[in-house]
Amino acid sequence: MLAAVETRYLIRPVGEADLPLLRGWRARPHVSRWWGDPALEPVEEALIEPNIALWIAELAGRPFAFIQDYDVHAWTPHPFDYLPPGSRGLDVYIGEPELVGLGHGSRLVRQHVDHLFGLGAPAVGIDPHPDNTAAHRAFAKAGFAVASGPLDTPWGRAILMDRRAGIDPLPVREGRARDASWRTGG
Ligand SMILES: CC(C)(COP(=O)(O)OP(=O)(O)OC[C@H]1O[C@@H](n2cnc3c(N)ncnc32)[C@H](O)[C@@H]1OP(=O)(O)O)[C@@H](O)C(=O)NCCC(=O)NCCS
Repeated sequence: MLAAVETRYLIRPVGEADLPLLRGWRARPHVSRWWGDPALEPVEEALIEPNIALWIAELAGRPFAFIQDYDVHAWTPHPFDYLPPGSRGLDVYIGEPELVGLGHGSRLVRQHVDHLFGLGAPAVGIDPHPDNTAAHRAFAKAGFAVASGPLDTPWGRAILMDRRAGIDPLPVREGRARDASWRTGG
């Protein structure tokens, strides 16, 4: 019997030369549907923001996805500021539409989160839109559990999911309530 072969992705930092590729991906309908107008929070701004790290993932030498991870305590209030110091937030999209829905998103997120844990992050948060069922499912497969939501955040409506270092992935804790006191500071 053949053993399953785990896909590993090359995840490399974004450089200036990648900006045209990223602008093209952001304009694709399957991405802009969830990431919004490409003119909002353009990647050029994120590239010079020291609290955000930008990455391109490659599969067999072909760039196919974008990841950003950020310091959840660099913005106050922030939906993930309940996570311990050093925690990272994550955003992701697969830019190439024919590679969506094949399991790459969940495997890629798992690989990058494991890398962040290896660097010392105690937890990682991710905040898909409540209607983005494919994202919820992909992130659950990557080991994330629902922490709260749906709720309104400064970046849009979201479900908050998190994954803690050293804890084996748990089943999705659908409906585990948390209040939204981060919004009022209360
Ligand atoms: C979100 C994203 C990164 C996930 O990556 P992916 O490779 O498509 O995800 P996977 O194939 O690993 O998993 C998707 C899961 O959702 C399921 N799914 C897809 N559409 C669904 C739907 N409408 N309803 C229910 N489940 C759905 C798939 O069946 C799969 O689950 P399964 O493996 O149990 O069958 C990718 O879809 C993407 O880039 N989407 C566009 C941008 C985006 O939404 N980014 C996330 C913003 S938070």
